[in-house]
Amino acid sequence: MRIFLDTADIEEIREVARWGILSGVTTNPTLMSRTSGMSHEDVIKHIADLVDGPISAETISLDADGMLDEGRRFAKWHPNVVIKVPSIPAGWEAVSRFKKEGIRTNVTLCFSANQALFAALAGAYIISPFLGRLDDISEDGMQLVRDIVDIYRIHEMETLVLAASIRHPLHIIEAAKAGADIATVPYKVLEAATKHPLTDKGIDSFLKDWEKFQGSQRQPAAVAG
Ligand code: E4P
Repeated sequence: MRIFLDTADIEEIREVARWGILSGVTTNPTLMSRTSGMSHEDVIKHIADLVDGPISAETISLDADGMLDEGRRFAKWHPNVVIKVPSIPAGWEAVSRFKKEGIRTNVTLCFSANQALFAALAGAYIISPFLGRLDDISEDGMQLVRDIVDIYRIHEMETLVLAASIRHPLHIIEAAKAGADIATVPYKVLEAATKHPLTDKGIDSFLKDWEKFQGSQRQPAAVAG
């Protein structure tokens, strides 16, 4: 399972890109609204300089022609740009038309296996089930990921399953076990997932023991007899 960062924050992306685990980035209008002073185009181009992988840029039109206008413009910014469209009939229409033009799509706001099936039939590159938002309303988001993975495998559909709306580190593990191709993770969740108290404790005790060892090396050898 690949890890994408779910952010438009350049500094977060710069840091995680250094870790060598980052395969892509997803943005959306909410994440864009948290950036300041840069245009949509500048943010996406800046991300493309930092990460060599798919970068999702979201359209806001609700009709297929509008999505196509926006998406064609975004796709010119960088070859790695993937166009996000919502899970509605106009979105699937846009996906099928983008596909004919060789433009990759990420169908977002997916909350049902039927929506995922239709996105794949239309030719989506990525489907984004929002597991956290389903959990928020007492539905089992991870079960949706499992169902989509099963359906795509049974019917040999090539659309990649991207677990989105990830809320905590366990979601990453569960998404990997469910067979998701990608998990897009907010910076705070990814940072929390890097930590383990026994790792910190182990480093601390190794450093202290190494100091002791170095000290013993500096002692003059005892004179025999
Ligand atoms: C990613 O593509 C989605 O837009 C994102 O994961 C949504 O997450 P949220 O439910 O935390 O807003």
